[in-house]
Amino acid sequence: MAPDFVILGAAGDLTSRYLMPALVHLIQAEHLDPDVSILGVSRQDWNDDQFRQHSAERLKQHVPNASAEVIANLLARLQYRRADVTDRAALSSVFHQVKGPAIAYLALPPSLFTPTVETLSDLDLPRGSRIVIEKPFGTDLASAQQLNRLLHDSFAEDAVFRVDHFLMKQTIQNILGLRFANRIFEMLWNRDHIERIEITWDETVALEGRASYYDRSGALRDMIQNHLIQLLTLVCMEPPVSINARDLRDRKLDVLRAIRRDSPAEVERHTYRARYTAGQVGDTILPNYTDEEGVDPDRRTETFAQVTLHIDNWRWAGVPIVLRTGKAMAADRHEIVIRFRPVPHLAFEQSPPPSNILRLQLNPDRMALGVNINGPGDPFDLEHVELTTDCCRQELPAYARLLLDVIEGDTMLSIRDDEAEESWRIVEPILHAWSEGRVPLLEYPAGSTGPHLE
Ligand code: BG6
Repeated sequence: MAPDFVILGAAGDLTSRYLMPALVHLIQAEHLDPDVSILGVSRQDWNDDQFRQHSAERLKQHVPNASAEVIANLLARLQYRRADVTDRAALSSVFHQVKGPAIAYLALPPSLFTPTVETLSDLDLPRGSRIVIEKPFGTDLASAQQLNRLLHDSFAEDAVFRVDHFLMKQTIQNILGLRFANRIFEMLWNRDHIERIEITWDETVALEGRASYYDRSGALRDMIQNHLIQLLTLVCMEPPVSINARDLRDRKLDVLRAIRRDSPAEVERHTYRARYTAGQVGDTILPNYTDEEGVDPDRRTETFAQVTLHIDNWRWAGVPIVLRTGKAMAADRHEIVIRFRPVPHLAFEQSPPPSNILRLQLNPDRMALGVNINGPGDPFDLEHVELTTDCCRQELPAYARLLLDVIEGDTMLSIRDDEAEESWRIVEPILHAWSEGRVPLLEYPAGSTGPHLE
């Protein structure tokens, strides 16, 4: 029997922006069992019809091309209950409404994860139930450990989905195929041949009404601690014995454990933080970040972060890995760039051409290999070109794939308890040094390419 969904936080942005569109895609692709119902829960004073109406309006915005039939199919499955997720009696009556196993999706602000899991632990959810938790999983190592302990009191690890939708993006999953199904790359995939790795996620979007979450989180907790460090694990892991939940996550964990925990002086050298000031992104005029509604300037939240990590193992010793992300930037730039070392000797009489690069780009999903070949005119005059290929469009968008894994109980691409904790171990020294003011908070105008970094 396929589990029903109980979405806690059904009136929130995550539900309307990601979960409802994902359910539409699942219905469209005939991946959602016709009996599965979706129960929305929040503190809004709504009834079933009002929830359906709210969802229908948001779906028009987020999946404008979905057919009327598919939308009607989804709306017919929706039910609504008003409840406070920390109220045991209220939540108990919500889950009584679900007859079989349930997927409890915590589409909630991170501050509510612990109290909600505490409430859920008291309810005896039917066998086969699952719990889905968004990121950031905790706010530091201690809170992540505490949340894990709490979860393990009532759920088996394979019923816990700490989700990261970046791992569901097809081009990200392609990293595994590219590395482990081709002889040519893996032979060069180490410190002897690779000089530097850059993982960049610059976004044109700014706050988009998410200040209540983002201002307490910032770029480091929102993007680097989870999404970008996860991408790093796929790029840097050793070859797994097989692609399954245990082997893949064991190898990712090895990478996380090998990432150096920086001293305060190293954090000063290896990290940058900044926030945007007034500017324009495309047609949108943006105020200073500190003047955005709901922002408390005293929190000194960063909207841009750049962190250089080092992996202390045989494969990667000495190779800097730069993770960078920013909001309200001039252009969307979502890519992983592998920079190879220069050739040991250049026999050509010209200044050295750029070294080889491998670029994995998202939106549009594309792979490019930068090589030096004969240019036009003089055949010994070298030119750097990028050989590009478009990657396949994925049949299901990331959040739909994520929900499908939860429905099927496949935890391979969910973050295991130990991975979530290790990521905090890496980021914590940075958080400490930043909170002590050891790294200046720089500024960059919205719509620019980011702060000037020395
Ligand atoms: C979310 C972050 O997890 O990922 C956002 O909270 C970010 O700040 C988003 O904008 C980016 O993901 P996508 O898939 O929408 O590009």
